[in-house]
Amino acid sequence: MTAVCRQCHADSWAKDHFDNFDTAVACYNEVYYRSARQRIDALYKAGPLSADHYFDEPLEWEFYELWHHEGRRARMGRP
Ligand code: HEC
Repeated sequence: MTAVCRQCHADSWAKDHFDNFDTAVACYNEVYYRSARQRIDALYKAGPLSADHYFDEPLEWEFYELWHHEGRRARMGRP
């Protein structure tokens, strides 16, 4: 992909652009997803959440939104 960008932009411009994207994805993965995943796993283990049926508890929908919708925004910049 950067070969396309370098037709008009400097190497450093193209590299920085994709480095920034990678940083946004890493930030989402580490700051948002990982900590939420750990908390929801702890709730399954401790018992307040049941793992029998997914989406039968409001927090599972919240987690889906965080994983799917917010993850999509972080990765692709889509609303
Ligand atoms: C055919 C030439 C060309 C190619 C190829 C090209 N760009 Fe650009 N790009 C431009 C021009 C010209 C501008 C400035 C447009 C303006 O200011 O209105 C620009 C602007 C940008 C901007 C906005 C900068 C700003 O300050 O708003 C970004 C981000 C960008 N390009 C990223 C990329 C990326 C990523 C690629 C490769 C996937 C790429 N461009 C490929 C010509 C190109």
